[in-house]
Amino acid sequence: MCGIIGCIGLRDVVPDLVEGLRRLEYRGYDSAGIAVLDGDEIGRRRVKGKVRDLEEDLRRHPLAGGCGIAHTRWATHGRPSEDNAHPHVDCSGTIALVHNGIVENYWSLKERLRGEGHVFRTETDTEVIVHLVEKYFRGSLEGAVRAAVAELEGAFAVACISSRDPGKIVVAKNGPPAVVGLGSGETFISSDITPLLSHTRRVSYMDDGEIAVLTPAGVRFETFAGAPVEKAVETLTWEPAMIEKRGFEHFMAKEIFEQADVVRDTLKSRVSLESGRVFLDDTGIAPAVFREVDRVVFIACGTSYHAGLVGKYLLETLAHVPVDVEYASELRSRDFAMDRRTLVLGISQSGETADTLAALRAAGEKARAVLAVTNNLNSSMARAADGILDLHAGPEIGVAATKTFVGQMAALALFALGFAQAREALGAGESLALVQELQRVPHKMDRVLGRAGDIERAARRYLACEHYLFLGRWINFPIALEGALKLKEISYTHAEGYAGGEMKHGPIALIDEKMTTLAIVPRDRVYEKMLSNIAEVQARSGRILAVAFEDDAKARAVAEEVFPIPEVHQLFSPFLTVLPLQLFAYYSAAAKGLDVDQPRNLAKSVTVE
Ligand code: G6P
Repeated sequence: MCGIIGCIGLRDVVPDLVEGLRRLEYRGYDSAGIAVLDGDEIGRRRVKGKVRDLEEDLRRHPLAGGCGIAHTRWATHGRPSEDNAHPHVDCSGTIALVHNGIVENYWSLKERLRGEGHVFRTETDTEVIVHLVEKYFRGSLEGAVRAAVAELEGAFAVACISSRDPGKIVVAKNGPPAVVGLGSGETFISSDITPLLSHTRRVSYMDDGEIAVLTPAGVRFETFAGAPVEKAVETLTWEPAMIEKRGFEHFMAKEIFEQADVVRDTLKSRVSLESGRVFLDDTGIAPAVFREVDRVVFIACGTSYHAGLVGKYLLETLAHVPVDVEYASELRSRDFAMDRRTLVLGISQSGETADTLAALRAAGEKARAVLAVTNNLNSSMARAADGILDLHAGPEIGVAATKTFVGQMAALALFALGFAQAREALGAGESLALVQELQRVPHKMDRVLGRAGDIERAARRYLACEHYLFLGRWINFPIALEGALKLKEISYTHAEGYAGGEMKHGPIALIDEKMTTLAIVPRDRVYEKMLSNIAEVQARSGRILAVAFEDDAKARAVAEEVFPIPEVHQLFSPFLTVLPLQLFAYYSAAAKGLDVDQPRNLAKSVTVE
């Protein structure tokens, strides 16, 4: 949660910091701020609102300087307001600091610091850090940061500057991500790589318990105890063009339309279309592990949890192995039995979600092995796990996950096939047929996306509808959950996802002419049962939209509107059925004029528990 960026160079860094904040805004967007060293003084601008409001403020009250830090916030302690916006300063106004994370012992620290004469001006937990740095400052900023972090409990990535020790930015990390970008004559710190791409490809990822001292010439790393650390410089592979909108009005639209390519890229070089073999060697988990476990547990949050549910149905069907899918936040509070015969998969596009990371770490102590299914190879989860299943989705900027969801399903389909093959649960012929069918999926996805115009028109027609019930059974039950989540998240419309069979146990009481049911009815093993559900809705005057096969006359006869998808193997229908639902949510939100890419109260990467 929250995005931090800092830059020190030989020219004015303010434009780069603002541009960097724009890239990081998906991490939080209730307030923003910047501080730069301007001669002997720290200049600071903060606003409640978005980065564009900060830009407006900077136009009216310009700032310039060669060393600065900036922040975009998702409030945890202290409501969104200008006073609570970062950067925060110490009593003397000579030290400024930005923070991502939560200081758990802030209350006792605050009481103590107050007692020592420090004056607090905000409701944030962060402010204690800057006062601690002030307290321990003896001429060296890194020395003061070292002493300050020794007193902190909780999660933090902080970046700090001081007019009393200029010419450097000091960063400390324990939890939230921080990556150093090495440019020519300028050095950056950022919460992720997206702001760095337009400046440099050379980066070093900070590990927990490290301090970095940035100067225009480069960076020096040390431990919290002050011991020097040698770090590798890595080269980024993402292109700057991957984080542009490429003519789309919103990132979300661009990302929805990229989904067929995401599946193509995920499959590339991992399957043989001749033998039907799936290669999971690049995960780093030996095939023997797949044979030795007798249970699989998926841990995830939000949309990734829904991908996990799809993965469960795939794995159960293909490998006949018991699978649990668990919300990371819930799992952590439970007495969950797990042993050396359990394989754990943590599913997280960002690889940074605090609950999933903590649950994954705890599982790592008990399970046979832990695999991170992520779009971020350098994330905390990727590093905490024994192996990585990479999504190949490219950067996803829209806060509501779309292409990473499809990438997760593709990765999990491969995993299920590879796992089943390793356990000899799938015959060669069956494997080959499934792999060939999976290979045909992206082309079919393009066909569905090609009909986006029809879905846009339908979304506009249904704009006044305030209540939706999304129904699906078996492998499309998770898609019903995901369709409802998308509509809630970005168009603020009440929507509930339900398993078709559960409708008669409650939601049926809600059905009347004001409730629209969106039924997912591909011709699969539960098709007839879904048709019965639709009939039950129809009998109670509910409105019906359906996602069904192109030639499905039965669905057309009962639904006001059908979003057609090509015929597909029943195990892979979620790749197609989710598309009309994402588009429906997108066009509903866009038609309402809402902020599609940054819906209210949400953040893309939730690094608080
Ligand atoms: C946030 C995002 C969701 C995402 C969830 C899990 O709530 O808004 O879109 O599904 O976090 O994120 P992860 O990075 O772990 O997949």
